[in-house]
Amino acid sequence: MAKSYKIAVMPGDGTGPEVTAEAVKVLKTAAGKFGFKVDLTEFDFGGERYKRTGETLPDSGVKELRQFDAILLGAIGHPDVAPGILEKGILLKARFELDQYINLRPVKLYPGVETPIKGKGPEDIDFVVVRENTGDLYTGTGGFTMKGTPHEVAVQSAVYNRFQVDRCLKYAFEYARKHGKKSRGRGKNNTLALSGKTNVLTYVYDLWERAFNEMGAAEYSDIVREYYHVDATCMWFVKNPEWFDVIVTGNMFGDIITDLGAMIQGGMGIAAGGNINPEGVSMFEPIGGSAPKYTGKNVINPLAAICAAQMMLATLGEEKAADVIEKAVMSVTANKLESLQAGRMGYSTTQVGDLVAEIVAD
Ligand code: IPM
Ligand code: MN
Repeated sequence: MAKSYKIAVMPGDGTGPEVTAEAVKVLKTAAGKFGFKVDLTEFDFGGERYKRTGETLPDSGVKELRQFDAILLGAIGHPDVAPGILEKGILLKARFELDQYINLRPVKLYPGVETPIKGKGPEDIDFVVVRENTGDLYTGTGGFTMKGTPHEVAVQSAVYNRFQVDRCLKYAFEYARKHGKKSRGRGKNNTLALSGKTNVLTYVYDLWERAFNEMGAAEYSDIVREYYHVDATCMWFVKNPEWFDVIVTGNMFGDIITDLGAMIQGGMGIAAGGNINPEGVSMFEPIGGSAPKYTGKNVINPLAAICAAQMMLATLGEEKAADVIEKAVMSVTANKLESLQAGRMGYSTTQVGDLVAEIVAD
């Protein structure tokens, strides 16, 4: 019997539904071609539902999501809803409640895509950031005192425990072994770089650095270990992106450096990420926002959402299908699109989805 995957689809807000539709189109095409089934269930968590019902992602929703093999997310963020409500109530709630402790963000320049970094090409820009996804400044640990007075104090703490750090590092080492590129980095072996700030965050990144150095010296002797301060990481992303192979870092730094990564790979039109619980339900998303000004115009670039679906299939074990989708995306960027920017692709959103799907079906 054909394998069947139960996928929760959360199109969300703004252009989310448009890009998700193209990702689903490609997903269905790949399923047909490679002989597996996708059983899709749509959920309407997002700004419109919040405005209607006051609900973000309710506990009952989390419970439902646990029943799926994976989640495909479009975008969260609505112009009429104050910042933070939907992000915390839906996106971060899903990440935390489903314990998606890895945020995996490939930074890969596809052929034909323009990077703002002069003189660098696809052979130079090809690395992955393993961002820890449950701790750090994101735990909401902190508060105000004397709020509203001239002496108001606000505290927000970077929180990590050894268990969280270790499980993230373990994933990163394994990922570097499996997917790293020997020719990258500055050694001959696959390289895992820790990005931190041990010169200032002398508690949190001291813990990370010790855990990093203590992790399986014998077990991971094939992986070259490097360390960069996070500010220097940004510098080298721009100056020498070819140095990087797999990078592991905390939640906040990972958030920041992956936006820089997204820009050097050609922008939000192509950048995808996976919120991964290796033992549970993972959620895949284009990392750009809901782009309200392009909503309903059929001009937004769906490639990031398609790449999110591709990562989902790779994680589910449909490596062959994932590979073919990636190659199809590469062919479209190399041979078809004029730009990755919304409205400037030379094709509409649905046409770009068709182009990828046709190659996958072929
Ligand atoms: C991201 C986003 C989120 C984050 C926001 C929307 C909460 O920026 O996925 O990188 O900070 O993680
Ligand atoms: Mn971000």
